[in-house]
Amino acid sequence: MKAKKIKVVYSELKIKKAVSSLAKKINNDYSKKKITKPIVVISVLKGAFMFTSDLIKRIEHPLQIEFVRISSYGSKEVSSGKIDAPMLTLPDLSGRDILIIEDIIDSGRTIGFLKEYIVTQYKPKSLRVACLLNKDERREVNVKADYVGFNVGNYFLVGYGLDTAEKFRHLPFLGVEL
Ligand code: IMP
Ligand code: MG
Repeated sequence: MKAKKIKVVYSELKIKKAVSSLAKKINNDYSKKKITKPIVVISVLKGAFMFTSDLIKRIEHPLQIEFVRISSYGSKEVSSGKIDAPMLTLPDLSGRDILIIEDIIDSGRTIGFLKEYIVTQYKPKSLRVACLLNKDERREVNVKADYVGFNVGNYFLVGYGLDTAEKFRHLPFLGVEL
């Protein structure tokens, strides 16, 4: 099978710089908060695995990492409108400081659903969201991330954890299919 061409939109270096600057903001914000227990980082699989791995290496506060697998997409590039959450099992996170790490906020359904679920289940002390990419113009649910790597327009990016039909997640950069 021949590899398809991908045009680079955000290079490895650009991503590295964005991740560093997000970590700096996060470190700064959380050092002003009274944190008694490790921050609970919840990474949304599969798309956020690379971003999570790079970001948490730069977080200077004690943390605990949890994973959930959830999405509002099928294998197509258009949101199915339904939430798919086959692996939503978390330990008791009542009263904890929680930071969700997501690859991209598009319609906002995934993060909207997850935030509501966490608030209802655990009444966390604080709940913040860090996303690598944000597509404001596609929003259908009123959610905002606290930390955003890049604000992007209405085009479909792959690489650095993001896929189209499970392809291109391994690429070290973000790009568009040609
Ligand atoms: P939302 O629930 O519509 O906000 O969708 C978020 C999910 O859609 C992400 O976790 C991605 O899996 C997927 N998604 C949205 N836009 C893109 C994109 O440009 N590239 C790859 N995946 C995307
Ligand atoms: Mg996907």
